Amino acid sequence: MISSVMPNYKRLDLAFEHGEGLWLTGTDGRRYLDFGAGIAVSSLGHSHPALVQAITEQAKKLIHVSNLYQVPQATALADLLVANSFADSVLFCNSGAEANEGLIKLIRRAQYKNGHPERTRIICFHNAFHGRTLATISATGNHAYLEGFGTPVDGFDHVPFNDIEAVRAAVNDKTAGILLEPIQGESGIRTAAPEFLQALRALCDEKGLYLGIDEVQSGMGRTGTLFAFEHAGITPDVVSSAKGIGGGFPLGAVLAREALAQHLTPGTHGTTYGGNPLACTAGLAVITEILRPGFLDNVQKTGEVFGQMLQRCVEDAPTVFEEVRGVGLMRGLRCRLPAGTVLEAAMAEGLLAIGAGDNVLRFVPPLIATEADCQEACNRIGRAAHALANRTGD
Ligand SMILES: Cc1ncc(COP(=O)(O)O)c(C=O)c1O
Repeated sequence: MISSVMPNYKRLDLAFEHGEGLWLTGTDGRRYLDFGAGIAVSSLGHSHPALVQAITEQAKKLIHVSNLYQVPQATALADLLVANSFADSVLFCNSGAEANEGLIKLIRRAQYKNGHPERTRIICFHNAFHGRTLATISATGNHAYLEGFGTPVDGFDHVPFNDIEAVRAAVNDKTAGILLEPIQGESGIRTAAPEFLQALRALCDEKGLYLGIDEVQSGMGRTGTLFAFEHAGITPDVVSSAKGIGGGFPLGAVLAREALAQHLTPGTHGTTYGGNPLACTAGLAVITEILRPGFLDNVQKTGEVFGQMLQRCVEDAPTVFEEVRGVGLMRGLRCRLPAGTVLEAAMAEGLLAIGAGDNVLRFVPPLIATEADCQEACNRIGRAAHALANRTGD
């Protein structure tokens, strides 16, 4: 008989009782070092006092009112994001897929209002991941995610990642914009070259296209800057955000320049929950912490050292690992053995990580991780690799 919860996830036989900082305690009584952070979500770790206090106090006052009314918490969060980014205006929603839906609609709507209703197509990339709604699986373009769900939503053209000539060749008079992840997370921590992002910006300027960046996984401090595109020194037109922005409370956002945002007039778009007082209070608590002086510098420094430690893991276990990928605290280890087997061995050592495409073991710990936490994780990775190498006779 089917389980009462629909069977669309392959879940491990493990549940958690509580968490504190980087540590989770399972119902099995074991403690786990969490380098997955609920898939790059728990940016301040578990039970962060500032986040817990903010949510608790807000919940006692008011949880939800709808967007029929002013929501001062949303205004405060939007003000903070605008003051610290390229954006002039912010749209709140509830998830990454929904943020990308908003981003896609903004790009199309702005082209339409600018006298180009024919410009509806968006150039996306091989190995992308933008979410699981009907439009975002089409933007993702992965056949496995599209199968059985009818005709894909039209309007997305896919080209190889990091290949500017392929992008240039794909642009036509129906193209409205470009959408990419600065670091492709789900498909195996593949980083866009800074020159590629710069060339995309120049191409968009040349052809009158909008540059959309999906920062759902890579943003909100994960790579040591508020957004990962900042490393390339470019300014996008519109950015989607979710995951880490709420520190575990469901929240998404679309940040845009006025040129696009001005076209989202009353009636053009909406969501009942989006930007409610409780969600925005969570976002405000998280971003206030992330923007504290030194916080992002620390992520950058710790991320750099973590990268070096992972490199040593590769050198120490060359039959298990092949290479280190990623930036800051968004890292991957490409494995020679099946990544699922390595993941299991790491769990046996009390370390939580996440699988990704291209046989990669992904590490996206809370942003409060210290060098000592990273060392502890690498010790466990080393022990797991050693156990596997012994098992395979290497
Ligand atoms: C880059 C990127 N975009 C979008 C999404 C979809 O976000 P959500 O699962 O919150 O809808 C994800 C989720 O993994 C992601 O990594």
